[in-house]
Amino acid sequence: MILPCDIRYTDSMQSLVNKRILLGITGGVAAYKSAELTRRLRDQGATVRVVMTPAATEFITPLTLQALSGNPVHTELLDHNAEAAMGHIELARWADRVVVAPASANFIARLGNGLADDLLSTLCLATNAPLLIAPAMNRQMWLNPATQENISRLQARKTTLLGPAAGDQACGETGPGRLLEPDEIVQAIAASFKTDQLAGTRVMVTAGPTREFIDPVRYLSNRSSGRMGYAVARAAMESGADVMLVSGPVALEPPDRIQVVEVVSARQMREAVLADVSLFDIFISAAAVADYRCVETAGQKIKKEDAGMALQLKKTPDILFEVSSLSSPPFTVGFAAETESLAANAKQKLMNKKLDMIAANQVGDGVGFDSEFNALDVYWPGGSQFLETAPKEKLARQLMELIVKRYREKEEV
Ligand code: C5P
Repeated sequence: MILPCDIRYTDSMQSLVNKRILLGITGGVAAYKSAELTRRLRDQGATVRVVMTPAATEFITPLTLQALSGNPVHTELLDHNAEAAMGHIELARWADRVVVAPASANFIARLGNGLADDLLSTLCLATNAPLLIAPAMNRQMWLNPATQENISRLQARKTTLLGPAAGDQACGETGPGRLLEPDEIVQAIAASFKTDQLAGTRVMVTAGPTREFIDPVRYLSNRSSGRMGYAVARAAMESGADVMLVSGPVALEPPDRIQVVEVVSARQMREAVLADVSLFDIFISAAAVADYRCVETAGQKIKKEDAGMALQLKKTPDILFEVSSLSSPPFTVGFAAETESLAANAKQKLMNKKLDMIAANQVGDGVGFDSEFNALDVYWPGGSQFLETAPKEKLARQLMELIVKRYREKEEV
């Protein structure tokens, strides 16, 4: 199996592979260095989208940045064509990091005051992604109390400051205010990802139902939509993990930046899981694996000749138990969908299946399956927590936090 991080990047900057960097360029002579920065970021495996302020386009052309980033460059807040392709809110959500390099004194002042009067400043307000700024300006402008006040304000709001360096300046003066070198900026961005909770961790998730064929046109299956498992896989990816998703048949879009292995039956899911699970640190079994399959699958469509018929079934392999029984198992998390005695059944499964954690939910009567919402009772040896009804995306992030916490605690033992 090849995870994205195995492909080309083996050095210390592996943390930029697959990462999405929104690079903001403001007006300053150092803007020419952003071209090199874009190239280096891409060299390290990042996807780069560039947003330029109108002043930046006076120093370097959008066409250069478009060619180097491989993506259209965004310059206008109210550009209908650009909004139709990728609107400013979408861009703000897209980014894993927003990096402004060079950041001019004027831009820093606007950011410090929370202005949203152009595309870049609007994005900085609209994004949830960590913001990194690399100032570049004349030394007097940098040392001016107004600029220093704005910088302090931004740092108080958790903006990361990259530089500036000191040295010869384009204006002929010498002192602080030089843009850091592209390599230094790349290093700092890479370092910002290394603090992600699951950076360098590999997570395998199973999701969706399985289908157990009776004949070529009929199968046994269940109501699982795969939404919870897909949300868990995304939450793990957002926490910095390399994620592999082994998915039964679902009607969901394959999530971005996650390696998806599609399977149909329980036996195929088992094969896919066992082939690679030894490479993973955490295994989360969210799939609703069919418990039984037909002893024999008919080669042709079965004719309805008799008044009734009996299907002979046999148990499918318990994938989760096989994983937790490995000689050095990953941190193993199961799910339990129950229609009754939720707590008792979940605790029993936690023990019987030798799990590190189990997330149990009540199903039937319009909850659990096919729904955007869910609630989870999470148990682990010696503890539990109730995660109240919420959209599955939110619940998945909360569950991931619990998993990370327990995983780290177990690692320390
Ligand atoms: O025993 P039960 O099916 O309720 O256990 C549910 C948990 O076991 C889920 O995490 C599910 O993904 C996993 N499972 C499995 N293989 C099976 C049946 C269930 O991995 N054959």
